[in-house]
Amino acid sequence: MHIRFSAPDLPSSGVLAVLVPEDATPAGVLARIDESMEGAIGRLLSGSRFKGKKGQVTEFFAPHGLKVDRLILVGVGKADKAAALDFEAAGGALAAHLNGAGVTEATLISEPIGMMLDAGGQAAHAAAGARLRCYRFDKYRTKEEQEKKLSLTSLTVGTEAHEAAAAAFDKLQQVIDGVFLTRNLVSEPANVIYPESFVERARALEDVGVKIEVLNESQMRERGMGALLGVAQGSEREPRLLVMTWNGAGDSSEYPVAFVGKGVCFDTGGISIKPAGGMEDMKWDMGGAGVVVGLMHALAARKAKVNVVGACGLVENMPDGKAQRPGDVVTSMSGQTIEVINTDAEGRLVLADVLTYVQETYKPSTIVDLATLTGAIMIALGKNTAGLFSNSDELSGALSEAGTAVGEPVWRLPMGADYDRMIDSDIADMKNTGQRWAGSITAAQFLQRFVNEGVNWAHLDIAGTTWSDKDAPTVPKGATAFGVRLLDRYVSENLE
Ligand code: BES
Ligand code: MN
Ligand code: ZN
Repeated sequence: MHIRFSAPDLPSSGVLAVLVPEDATPAGVLARIDESMEGAIGRLLSGSRFKGKKGQVTEFFAPHGLKVDRLILVGVGKADKAAALDFEAAGGALAAHLNGAGVTEATLISEPIGMMLDAGGQAAHAAAGARLRCYRFDKYRTKEEQEKKLSLTSLTVGTEAHEAAAAAFDKLQQVIDGVFLTRNLVSEPANVIYPESFVERARALEDVGVKIEVLNESQMRERGMGALLGVAQGSEREPRLLVMTWNGAGDSSEYPVAFVGKGVCFDTGGISIKPAGGMEDMKWDMGGAGVVVGLMHALAARKAKVNVVGACGLVENMPDGKAQRPGDVVTSMSGQTIEVINTDAEGRLVLADVLTYVQETYKPSTIVDLATLTGAIMIALGKNTAGLFSNSDELSGALSEAGTAVGEPVWRLPMGADYDRMIDSDIADMKNTGQRWAGSITAAQFLQRFVNEGVNWAHLDIAGTTWSDKDAPTVPKGATAFGVRLLDRYVSENLE
């Protein structure tokens, strides 16, 4: 979709949309429209359920007194509370409405509403919301009727602050490109995206200045990555360790922060095989890795002034004559040994070696990992909030704040020695599962055993938030890319 910003002139044809604050009498352009329409807007606001609440949309077709074909009003909620996310929600709701109506082009008038955000920011976030909603993964639909496709191709946002809006939108646009890259990767089926093809997709990041390094199976074997390789050994697909670096703060080899992603391109469970129902969902068990790639794109494309590492452990977890068995003991790159109680608790085995590799190679002081790690996190937090586990109050606070700001909430869960004991093994240094209780926490305790003393670490369990089964204002159902905007925000607020 093409988005541009211009002066807030009313169009004389086509589709006109206007942002409206909640429970306010028509002012500015809306007052002018109300006058042309002989009071119709005032009557609408007093006599209908449309009050300008966030995300509310109403429409006049062939509005009396105006030359346009459609007039659409979009609520942003109470003026004194209207912040970036409210404008995004309004833009998203408008885009959904326009696509539903088969509209191809529209003009949105964005007059300043409230004081939470400057006028340019308001228009930019409304536009960003519209673009975020206009995502659809339809490359494999060859026979779909035109009626069902997204129709909106062009949105003009009219605002006095059009120059500021265009500049603000430019930055948002890079992040949205990263979000779409992640959504594309995560949506692909596992016959298309597997470790090697994942790496090939990620190579596109070289165009924005990201350096790519890849370890293949024998290189990982040389480094002793027995935990990751144990998971991979049941698959015909070779594993890969993908490492991306972005040097936005100069060419030094100091990397203050590393992002690590679980990239299980398909998780059958292995010999501890999963039931058939819903197993197709496990194509998105590489969601954490997908987020790391999209995030690296966002940071590089908007030239973030920071040096970052992004690392993805890419494997496929399959049952096979060569697959690892429950009870097997593997030696991780850290030297610690692991009894594999359940081959379906594979994500932590993959992450363990990636964490060790990243720390040995880049010595970051902060690591954030993302993983679709446990079904239990959905039981605890549902599908809108990700689990946060960390050894640092400060890092936890910064991530929570970033999540709230971009609408990707996280909630911190406890960790501690009592939980850690639950993964002690009788035969090895640890086992890869605890008992039934606190499954998300024992998974985090497992990861923490691979984090060096002095490193600030946080783990985001995104099993609930990676895939959505219903449309939300700026996130259509399907792959959400939850984490890209959160971590981009974390970087811009804390590290640049
Ligand atoms: N990839 C799954 C977790 C998952 C489940 C993600 C549902 C998204 C949706 C993970 O590898 C897994 O299988 N975890 C097990 C751990 C158990 C064996 C300790 C789980 O959650 O059941
Ligand atoms: Mn699993
Ligand atoms: Zn998994």
